[in-house]
Amino acid sequence: MAEPVQTPQSSQTAFKPRIFSGIQPSGGLTLGNYLGALKRFVEKQNEGIETVYCLVDMHAITVWQDPAKLRQQTREAAAGFIAAGIDPVRSILFNQSQVTAHAELAWIFNCVARMGWMSRMTQFKDKAGKNSENVSLGLFAYPALMAADILAYKATHVPVGEDQKQHLELCRDIAAKFNNDFGVAFFPMTEPLIEGAATRVMSLRDGTKKMSKSDPSDQSRINLTDDADTIAKKIRKAKTDPEPLPSDLEGLKDRPEARNLVNIYAALAGMTAEEVIRDHGGAPFGSFKPALADLAVSVMSPITTEMNRLMQDVAEIDRILGEGAARADAIARPIVDEVYDIVGMIRSRVI
Ligand code: AMP
Ligand code: TRP
Repeated sequence: MAEPVQTPQSSQTAFKPRIFSGIQPSGGLTLGNYLGALKRFVEKQNEGIETVYCLVDMHAITVWQDPAKLRQQTREAAAGFIAAGIDPVRSILFNQSQVTAHAELAWIFNCVARMGWMSRMTQFKDKAGKNSENVSLGLFAYPALMAADILAYKATHVPVGEDQKQHLELCRDIAAKFNNDFGVAFFPMTEPLIEGAATRVMSLRDGTKKMSKSDPSDQSRINLTDDADTIAKKIRKAKTDPEPLPSDLEGLKDRPEARNLVNIYAALAGMTAEEVIRDHGGAPFGSFKPALADLAVSVMSPITTEMNRLMQDVAEIDRILGEGAARADAIARPIVDEVYDIVGMIRSRVI
């Protein structure tokens, strides 16, 4: 039997910096996805760190997906990533189901994670609602697959929006329990990167709800596929209170809709919320909204145009995803093979 390696768990130096993140192709990408995730994926890529980005189609099917739509949305999301600045040469870009290591490691993690941990996940509780007897088993196990996504690459950092914080904590719990159960220092304690002015972009119709691709109201979100007119209209119609913008951040405290629009402005302009208030404090929404609409259109429209252009050549998108999957597999395969060995599975098949 191999001697367990007893490296201290706090020792992160052994792990090469590597970024991993994922987005579900379960609907069109929203401004929330763009500001909370995608924009930051591009920044990380441009900092020169190794970046692996995944369209998590297997997570998407934890709730019903029409097959033709799933295919279309996966390609559209890939086009959105590239249009937003992901370079499929410098980053690895692929869809999850093409790299079988994810599903394989997820099964091992299903056997490491505890029912109690999963039951405490707020995303599960929100999505299952009163219907928890009737949701898929996959929805319950969702965070174990997510941990597998990350740890199949031994990723050290994961840029995400605020809503994913609890899932990242669970990923660390799974990594720690695996390391502890088998007496190894195999998996890193992955750090979430939740940064910037827009880690939680809220609905345009209700400042207390997250902007989401699954919200029944299309008015609640800006989609990456919306044209300039639609973006401007949605912002002009966004719910607000009747007061003008306050003169300091404190004044936004109990005004969720106003705060949301200020945060969106800040993230789009690359400013802090303080700077936006400094420039626009005292302005009525009658003038702030058109300024925000212009800014949103100027940032989003070039991305939408490029995304539509890329969608003309679906074969090229599929080729990029296939190439990304092969590169992803080259990293994940040996890691998952080693996991099988650690767990005690015989691997004697001649290929
Ligand atoms: P999802 O669309 O749920 O797969 O989310 C993909 C990524 O986008 C995750 O990192 C989320 O945290 C992020 N994200 C989704 N919606 C929002 C939002 N409204 N505000 C900020 N980040 C978001
Ligand atoms: N659960 C994430 C979300 O809904 C998507 C996701 C799946 C993910 N696997 C991941 C994010 C791995 C980061 C890393 O937003």
